Amino acid sequence: KPYIVIMAGGVGSRFWPSSRNTKPKQFLDILGTGRTLLQMTFDRFSEVASPDQFLVVTHFSYTDLVKEQLPELAEHQILAEPLRRNTAACIAYAAFRIQAIDPNAVMIVTPVDHLILQENKFLQAIHHAVASAAEDGKLITLGIKPNQPATGYGYIQYHENDQKIALKVKTFTEKPSLKLAKTFLDSGDFVWNSGMFVWKAKSFIDQLHIHLPDMADAFEGGQQIFGTSAEKEFINRAYSLVKNISIDYGLMEKSDQVYVILGDFGWSDLGSWHSLHDLRSKDEHNNVVEANAVLFETQNSYIKTDSDKLVVIQGLENYLVNESDNVLLICKLDAEEKFRDFVATAKKKS
Ligand code: GDD
Ligand code: MG
Repeated sequence: KPYIVIMAGGVGSRFWPSSRNTKPKQFLDILGTGRTLLQMTFDRFSEVASPDQFLVVTHFSYTDLVKEQLPELAEHQILAEPLRRNTAACIAYAAFRIQAIDPNAVMIVTPVDHLILQENKFLQAIHHAVASAAEDGKLITLGIKPNQPATGYGYIQYHENDQKIALKVKTFTEKPSLKLAKTFLDSGDFVWNSGMFVWKAKSFIDQLHIHLPDMADAFEGGQQIFGTSAEKEFINRAYSLVKNISIDYGLMEKSDQVYVILGDFGWSDLGSWHSLHDLRSKDEHNNVVEANAVLFETQNSYIKTDSDKLVVIQGLENYLVNESDNVLLICKLDAEEKFRDFVATAKKKS
């Protein structure tokens, strides 16, 4: 049975102010389903693994939120990171932990910020990925057919092959410029990296030793320590040594062991208010309204407050109005590149 590693330590700044440092988007029910993104991810993978096969990796300040939202998990299944070091360290920690139990175990690594509409097709792709990853050395990623030159994704070019399900990757380019993304899209040869990875703990660690050797060394030697009271200290030390880099830049772009399985399961990245707007149900003027609001001549907007305050709006088009915890943000719905600036500037003010 595969292990499921949920990466749940991101800050989600593009959903500010609803998503805060203290409670980022993965702990929010941003789709209005009654389950948070973390819980939805757990539910999705519960079809392929039992609760004891899950590991959630997160910043130490969120471990209580994880416990509260996933009471199915035991304490040792929540891996607490002392520092934010992005996804390479997060995956390395989980891989070394799993390797200590069974080096041949397959691990499925997943972000928490996705929506998948066709679960059956998705589970089939996961099935294929797990089977392919059982072959020594292979790093499998799930690829998604792109429909726009988005710059927030990894782009994968692969070798065509009618015989095999897992296709050998030629190039992996993380977050290209808009110009490059357009070229990739027009060529028709590329798919998006979904950010979901499947591999044996051992296969991954072998590649980590080649491409991020310092990081591999920092975690090496923890085998005897995992699960004991010395783990925390060991991990604190490892995190103080590793560099801050995502798995995409640090390993996927460089490794020659990467294979892609093409998936068509209604994948959507919940990366921004704009993408969320596309997915939520809307009123007759294409507005998402999660507020006590009266709208006049307003369309294509997203209105969300966390209070009962009556909101009256006239004349907005393509706007976000989001009031959360004493912060009111009014901006263009597609201003997502600016969000990091908003957060930084607003923090200085408050
Ligand atoms: N534990 C932990 N620690 N989790 C983290 C950390 C960290 O330091 N940083 C990010 N994460 C989690 C996020 O919460 C998210 O679930 C996942 O790791 C991916 O991080 P993002 O920051 O959302 O990455 P991205 O969206 O910019 O890019 C990745 O996903 C795209 C698809 O959505 C890349 O893999 C791209 O190549 C890919 O196309
Ligand atoms: Mg993301």
